[in-house]
Amino acid sequence: MAIYRANRQHGVAWITGGATGIGRQLALDLAAEGWTVAITSREQDRIEPVIDDARNLPGKILAFYCDVTDEAGMTATVGEIENQAGAIVLAVLNAGVYLPVHSENLTVETFRKTYDVNLFGVLNALVPLIERMRSRGRGQIVLMGSVAAYFGWPTLAAYGATKAALNNMAEALQYDLPKMNIRIQVVNPGFVDTPLAAKNKILMPALVPVEEASRRILKAIRSGGFETTFPRRFTWTIKFLSILPHRAVFSFINAVARWRGRPLMPGRFRD
Ligand SMILES: NC(=O)c1ccc[n+]([C@@H]2O[C@H](COP(=O)([O-])OP(=O)(O)OC[C@H]3O[C@@H](n4cnc5c(N)ncnc54)[C@H](OP(=O)(O)O)[C@@H]3O)[C@@H](O)[C@H]2O)c1
Repeated sequence: MAIYRANRQHGVAWITGGATGIGRQLALDLAAEGWTVAITSREQDRIEPVIDDARNLPGKILAFYCDVTDEAGMTATVGEIENQAGAIVLAVLNAGVYLPVHSENLTVETFRKTYDVNLFGVLNALVPLIERMRSRGRGQIVLMGSVAAYFGWPTLAAYGATKAALNNMAEALQYDLPKMNIRIQVVNPGFVDTPLAAKNKILMPALVPVEEASRRILKAIRSGGFETTFPRRFTWTIKFLSILPHRAVFSFINAVARWRGRPLMPGRFRD
């Protein structure tokens, strides 16, 4: 039997981190297709303009407030969305943070904060979602990974580690979720032009506009494949190099990020 693909006649979509960047664009594009989309954010100021932007679209966007690191709050938010809007049949667990790591100034806190949002924040949504989707016998879940999952990049030690963990977790879960008619997918974009990428201090090759990223993600949702990555020429190069001796990919990334020869941070570095 084919695994479930989300249909807007069956319920609503939920996007975490839906007020900005990729999540915002995806919410507007799904609403343009007629979906009712619940978006979550921590800030009312950020979410209200998105609701305004969706006013003339065939679907609608509904706002909910939650910090993804709040386990009980996330379970309650899933309940609130379903009570107010209907069953969540499509969830895009997109909220994420990038905190740069400089090897000359490691802090445990940077890693802990990144894991809290990028890994445990996803789990805080996954647990209540899977319980509800399982009881209904259908659902589709998309996890937002990154090309940083394939291989370590300068400054992405914490961020990349969480994205690699997300990929591995999704691979492991996909053995059983289809038995509950739940489709799990991972999207691993290269660099996308968003507020998160703007914090990046490394050169970002093959930067993709957010509209293009959303288009690729919507295509992935429809096609249902386990993993989607884009822009392919760039991300497949990293993927291919990562099966060669480490030297090859270290050289490639050093070159494209223009990192070789970059001096260490003077003194203690603050994010
Ligand atoms: N941009 C890129 O180059 C790129 C590449 C690969 C993957 N990605 C991934 O794509 C996803 C979206 O990122 P983006 O580029 O669109 O950046 P963005 O505009 O900064 O979006 C990140 C979102 O995460 C939400 N968020 C962060 N911490 C949160 C928390 N504690 N609780 C709830 N929400 C939280 C933010 O929501 P509020 O601040 O409104 O609460 C924000 O809307 C991330 O997972 C990122 O890792 C991005």
